[in-house]
Amino acid sequence: MNSRPVQFDRFGPPDVLAVGPFPEPHAGPGEVRVRVETAGISPVDLALRAGSSPSSGKLALPHVPGVDAAGVIDEVGAEVSGFAVGEEVFGAVDVARLGGASAEFAVLRFWARKPGSMSWVEAGAAGTSVETATRALDGLGVHEGATLVIEGAAGGVGSVAVQLAIARGARVIGTGRPGNHPFIAGLGALPVAYGAGLGERLRALGVDRVDLALDVAGAGSLPELIALTGTAASVLTIADFTGPGLGVRVSLGELGGEPGGRHGLPIAAALSEEGRFRVPVWETFPMSRAAEAHAAAGKGPRQGKIALTVSH
Ligand SMILES: NC(=O)c1ccc[n+]([C@@H]2O[C@H](COP(=O)([O-])OP(=O)(O)OC[C@H]3O[C@@H](n4cnc5c(N)ncnc54)[C@H](OP(=O)(O)O)[C@@H]3O)[C@@H](O)[C@H]2O)c1
Repeated sequence: MNSRPVQFDRFGPPDVLAVGPFPEPHAGPGEVRVRVETAGISPVDLALRAGSSPSSGKLALPHVPGVDAAGVIDEVGAEVSGFAVGEEVFGAVDVARLGGASAEFAVLRFWARKPGSMSWVEAGAAGTSVETATRALDGLGVHEGATLVIEGAAGGVGSVAVQLAIARGARVIGTGRPGNHPFIAGLGALPVAYGAGLGERLRALGVDRVDLALDVAGAGSLPELIALTGTAASVLTIADFTGPGLGVRVSLGELGGEPGGRHGLPIAAALSEEGRFRVPVWETFPMSRAAEAHAAAGKGPRQGKIALTVSH
């Protein structure tokens, strides 16, 4: 049977996206298929569609974009235990597929139960942001009592990383454009402007020691973050490939064959139930307006993610 997901048959700007017929995917071993309620849009989806990702060349066109989705399980693959048809879950596709989530039916590679406290919109946008933030916080060894700077705290990964780090007992300082400071403060972090002079601004705020720094922005601030913490070993980036040249680790994640943060999904679900975690979503669009959704995800200012809602 054919479904009608979002797809593109050539690389280009958001308007290459269209909804049209496509073969339904099915759950393979270790996977579940969900009847999608909501799907998230991530920077990697935009780069793959534009043809600017190193992985764009691996796509067979037409391609269904999207790595994150939430929905109701309607197929359980072999080797999956503990989950059944009808359960509400959120998660992400196998990155080797490079997409498939902006659709009525999506095959998830890792997932967790969606708690009632988490809206469908939040759940659809959560998967890779939570995985990435968890992996990065693990890589840095974020622990109770640590003072952590998150560079780019208002974005999809940053806004999630702030809350997960606070849940670990860290004191978090989040950088963002001034208009995003109330949002960053609302997440529980001390907001500060990014850009040159970060150290002086922090001292003016009474922060005299920074133990760890997580760069999710990839905006070229690694030398300043190294100076803040005193050592490149205490800095980790997910988005700046000059890192290794400076002694800073780059956490590449699923696309780089490093699936380290999947255990973050049930942790985020539990924190949501306790009222200590939410997935900020700036704007939602129906799947039929996926081009507008990609355009919105590609421009700032924004707080958190962009999501698609799917009607059946
Ligand atoms: N390695 C991995 O596993 C992995 C996984 C997911 C994402 N990523 C990458 O990580 C990056 C962030 O992803 P995302 O989903 O969080 O993106 P996003 O939602 O677009 O957020 C980017 C953030 O960067 C901030 N920013 C912009 N200019 C800045 C500057 N000069 N200094 C500091 N911060 C600045 C923005 O803050 P304001 O809005 O306040 O200006 C925004 O909040 C992307 O490059 C993405 O491709 C990597």
